Amino acid sequence: VKSIGVLTSGGDAPGMNAAVRAVARTCLNKGIDVYGVMLGYKGLHEGQFYKFNRHSTRNIINIGGTILKSARFPEFKNPQTRLEAIEQMKSVGMEALVVIGGDGSYHGALELTKLGVNCIGIPGTIDNDIPLTDHTIGFDTALNTIVEALDRLRDTSGSHQRCTILEVMGRTCGDLAVNAGLACGAEIVITSETGFDEEKVIERLRQSKAGDKKHAIVVITEHVTDVNELAKRIEAATGFETRANVLGHLQRGGRPSANDRVLASRMGVRAVELLEQGKGGLAICEQGGVITEVPMLTLFDSKRDVPEELYEDVLKLR
Ligand code: F6P
Repeated sequence: VKSIGVLTSGGDAPGMNAAVRAVARTCLNKGIDVYGVMLGYKGLHEGQFYKFNRHSTRNIINIGGTILKSARFPEFKNPQTRLEAIEQMKSVGMEALVVIGGDGSYHGALELTKLGVNCIGIPGTIDNDIPLTDHTIGFDTALNTIVEALDRLRDTSGSHQRCTILEVMGRTCGDLAVNAGLACGAEIVITSETGFDEEKVIERLRQSKAGDKKHAIVVITEHVTDVNELAKRIEAATGFETRANVLGHLQRGGRPSANDRVLASRMGVRAVELLEQGKGGLAICEQGGVITEVPMLTLFDSKRDVPEELYEDVLKLR
């Protein structure tokens, strides 16, 4: 392969820049031309390409967000749009593509591969919701951001003897919530995977209050329920003064953690090596500390393992 493009797609995640850097440097060290594609698939379609040189990815390994920008571009589901994107790639001689994003972004990559443009996916999302990889790039940084927020909330929750609810991101994946809950000694973790039984939650908080607990932390994944309304109902039913917080997009930014930089760097190198071998339609994964790859089709047919033992440990440590 003589020329490779790299793009970031979907929600940004800390560590994406480290992955872009790894892709670019690996290419340049192998004598392969490399282009940054701006704005994800939208930029691919519009031909927004930027040819990298050795200086282009300097000083970005430690920076959050994505220098390539990201955009949602549902139009890429249209076969004609994909053909037009391939024409843009051909116009600069770009033969293959690395797509850094969530598994939604992998669908476009697989379609391009079917059309003869080899694509490799790198899992970049704070949600950790991609099957067959232990971690996605950005998850560790977001988790540490949540832990810092929870530590602060614990201070004030303790001072005022309150119940504090923190809503975190994750889409339908509870990994951020359960890991943060375990790291911060939460009373209760609620995710779409645990299900939400409000009576049970209230009963548990009643028991805590009746015991010697003076304050409580509840971590909940977004989209499960309205946390402000839940706070009111908890307060009314348990007598625990309750405050709700939504952490929001704070979770998406910030300096990537060491773990995310290492993961991103290793995955970026691997992606280029696979393209060099003429492979495509593969998703890079981390399994038990080993960087490997699976066919995207296998990944689409797989379900994520819910980390049951983490949920059990939260209960054991209440
Ligand atoms: O996928 C990352 C994520 O941050 C999710 O956790 C969240 O549901 C979503 O993106 C938010 O999307 P947006 O940035 O478009 O509001």
